[in-house]
Amino acid sequence: MKKLRVGMLGLGTVGKSVAEILIQNQSWIAGRAGASIQIVRALVRQTRKRREGAASKIPTTTNAQDILDADDIDIVIEVMGGHEPAYGYITQALKRGKAVVTANKAVLAAHGLEIAKVVQQHHAAIYYEAAVAGGVPIIRTLRHSLISDRIQRIRGILNGTTNFILGLMEKGEGYDTALRQAQKEGYAEADPTLDISGADARDKLAILIQLAFGLDVHPSEIPTEGIGSLTPEVLADARQLGYRVKLLAIAKRVGNKLEARVQPAFVPFEHHLSAVLDIENAISVDSEALGTTLYVGPGAGGMPTASAVISDLIEAAQQQGVKNAMSLRSQRTALKLAKPEAAISAFYVRFLVEDRPGVLAAITRILASNNVSLAAVLQHERGLDDEPVALVILTHPTTHGAMSKALNKIKQLPILHGGLSVVPIEEQRVTKVES
Ligand code: NAP
Ligand code: HSE
Repeated sequence: MKKLRVGMLGLGTVGKSVAEILIQNQSWIAGRAGASIQIVRALVRQTRKRREGAASKIPTTTNAQDILDADDIDIVIEVMGGHEPAYGYITQALKRGKAVVTANKAVLAAHGLEIAKVVQQHHAAIYYEAAVAGGVPIIRTLRHSLISDRIQRIRGILNGTTNFILGLMEKGEGYDTALRQAQKEGYAEADPTLDISGADARDKLAILIQLAFGLDVHPSEIPTEGIGSLTPEVLADARQLGYRVKLLAIAKRVGNKLEARVQPAFVPFEHHLSAVLDIENAISVDSEALGTTLYVGPGAGGMPTASAVISDLIEAAQQQGVKNAMSLRSQRTALKLAKPEAAISAFYVRFLVEDRPGVLAAITRILASNNVSLAAVLQHERGLDDEPVALVILTHPTTHGAMSKALNKIKQLPILHGGLSVVPIEEQRVTKVES
């Protein structure tokens, strides 16, 4: 049987699970791959770090050239993360004719075009199923199963850590404790601000946009807001109104434009994305002929992600010698990115205001003058000693531009105490007006 030798860049949460699966399931993986696969060595930061299980059996090095220049390595698995040196290592490996399997969405989103050129020029091959939504097979689905259809919209929960944190916060857990737990479980990025700020979901959305719509979008072009400003009060209001708050990554065709954004949004309890809990990810794809399909499963964690890496590894083994395999660029499009202000949503807004006559009128006047119409108003009961009171407004759908203009004016009113919270609503429920 043919032998394929693997060099790993990284032996952390994902890397050690890859080693675990490969070593424990050698014979059936060999059967499926048509080759016996052996991990030759792994690049790490610290060779003296104590490693357990299968990872402890793998020779380690701190010199990347021991892998990139090695004649005894055919395939490189990059699971070290970060932009550099990972990007440089990926391109070096491709230039030396090694197939590359990577889980690195940050590098693919920022340098996809350059990597595609290297893949073409060097007749190389790159595989990246694990880079988006962990174990959920969305890359292959878009590349193969949905290649026959024209995709209209993608709505995804693409970050497990933030979904996990929001779930714990809904149950009353504090933000800091929830984040610590996500880190302990190995879900968060080495720098967890990438999860919290929405940057990780944005990078994944940029990759999906390229595959689904053929549009090359740099991640910096996608308006992105994370979960950092969501308070327990906002989550409680959402629940009371029949919604869950989810960090959504959205890309949608509107005429010859593509709307794209990453933002927390209210999602009705009865919507399929509302039922995606813990570290699960989900991608809801609307396509012309097929209609809506949903891809859901564990989006973070060592084993789910390793399962996607191994599927790539098996495909790489089966395609050994196939040129430009899984090349990043497959189509061209006349689509252009839409202006963020043109996007349309209904909104939830929470103000802390003085509890006196005329306050609501002052706010609604500004909303009306910007063509923002109200769907519901809810005022929380007043506290003691003339404390400011929370006023919650749900609007009918309006443009993000109109909403932001109105809110900038409202922020100047002296009746406002502290900041306000604003969250778009994805698919509005019929809400009864209360007071
Ligand atoms: P991790 O636990 O932090 O592991 C990183 C590994 O790479 C460690 O073994 C580390 O060495 C090594 N490493 C990092 N920088 C290095 C450098 N400059 N030189 C040499 N070695 C270096 O990361 P992870 O969670 O496994 O994530 C790896 C990649 O998979 C990232 O791109 C991440 O975005 C992606 N991913 C992760 C998940 C997940 O749930 N964790 C899911 C999907 C995709 P030491 O062991 O010596 O520290
Ligand atoms: N930190 C990422 C997440 C890992 O939480 O989704 C999977 O890409």
